[in-house]
Amino acid sequence: MEKFKIAVIIGSTRATRFGDKPARWIHDIASQRNDMTVEILDLRDYPMPFFDEVASNAWVPSQNEVAECWQKKVAQFDGYIFVTAEYNRGIPAVLKNALDYAYLEWNRKPAAVVGYGSVGAARAAEQLRLIAIELQMAPTRTGVHIQGADFMAVWKNGKEIAELPYLRQNATDMLDQLVWWTKALKTAREQPSLSNAA
Ligand SMILES: Cc1cc2nc3c(=O)[nH]c(=O)nc-3n(C[C@H](O)[C@H](O)[C@H](O)COP(=O)(O)O)c2cc1C
Repeated sequence: MEKFKIAVIIGSTRATRFGDKPARWIHDIASQRNDMTVEILDLRDYPMPFFDEVASNAWVPSQNEVAECWQKKVAQFDGYIFVTAEYNRGIPAVLKNALDYAYLEWNRKPAAVVGYGSVGAARAAEQLRLIAIELQMAPTRTGVHIQGADFMAVWKNGKEIAELPYLRQNATDMLDQLVWWTKALKTAREQPSLSNAA
């Protein structure tokens, strides 16, 4: 079976972030599947300035060296799982910046979301899906939302996300959808007659 290359992108970078826990959790679940290989991408490893290029790299190559590394890394994957917090009802600025710093590298690839926070980052996840459309990505219907008392129990009381069994089924549904879209879009990207379609 073909193994698709999937990146788990941690969308926050602050020193005391929670984001590592859901990233490791979804990485562990995804790694047990035989249809994907999974790598965690940490935005801390790509300290890009606030977007400061003459244009999107859709039109003009980026000058910033870290941005170039980021674009090359993003290009290696067939699909993405964004692990996102919700900052004032939106995605963290560092994640938006990282999304803005690439374009063709995201195009025609699928995006899944694992969110956490009081409402499981549901509002941020919806914004992320809108951004994904402009980046010509296909967002999965199902996301994982670690929310409310469950989020607080993991954040404050040392509970493990793996102790919340309903999330496991939720993650499986999301990953199944991610694989479906990954396969469909990769097949289409590799069709010469479709590769240059608008
Ligand atoms: C600037 C800021 C804004 C926040 N806004 C929200 C919010 O709108 N909704 C929410 O559920 N949680 C909000 N929170 C709480 C976060 O869900 C919580 O701090 C979470 O741990 C942040 O993710 P991180 O630890 O990976 O940075 C906010 C936190 C910060 C620092």
